[in-house]
Amino acid sequence: MQICFATSNPNKVREIQAMLPDYIRLLSLKDIGCLEELAEDQSTLEGNSHQKANYVFHNYHVPCFADDTGLEVFALDGAPGVISARYAGEQRDIGANMELLLSKLQGKEDRKAQFRTVITFINEDGKTRQFEGVVKGAITNNPQGGQGFGYDPIFIPKGYQQTFAQMAADEKNKISHRAIATQKLVKYLTKHF
Ligand code: IMP
Repeated sequence: MQICFATSNPNKVREIQAMLPDYIRLLSLKDIGCLEELAEDQSTLEGNSHQKANYVFHNYHVPCFADDTGLEVFALDGAPGVISARYAGEQRDIGANMELLLSKLQGKEDRKAQFRTVITFINEDGKTRQFEGVVKGAITNNPQGGQGFGYDPIFIPKGYQQTFAQMAADEKNKISHRAIATQKLVKYLTKHF
């Protein structure tokens, strides 16, 4: 059984392959000969992950899944959300993204936020299923910590005292939005294939 993970990040493919039984083989975009950049211009995480999986399913005729993640800040009506990577502009500069976010939250008491991942899976018959992973938390006043990536230095998960960037990678990976969505996907695939 072969399933394509519509991502150009080989680390993400390896990470999920390690969670699957051997008879389910994950293929990367490169493995199926898809070298073009996949569009993700929808207004929601659900829409973007579906757009990517759907493109691969219709053009390459393999069961596949794709993910999309965003940081959603409550006092900013869910921003930066689907544009998390490009919040401060197309240059995708995480320093500028965090600075912009902190400036928008200046003086606001409500600093609640969540990371959310949505995975869309399309099976060989074209049936679609979505899996969501959420980790709730709060935005700090300043960046703290040097681990991880993206907005990790300004996000403290609920129940913890440290930012994601101050935690060891395996500690973050146990509780993260991506881990929760991925575990749901793995459970589904293992049960149905
Ligand atoms: P993607 O959908 O996985 O590419 O994530 C989109 C953007 O969300 C990334 O460019 C990061 O800025 C942010 N992001 C996603 N996951 C994380 C995370 O685990 N920690 C911090 N930022 C993240």
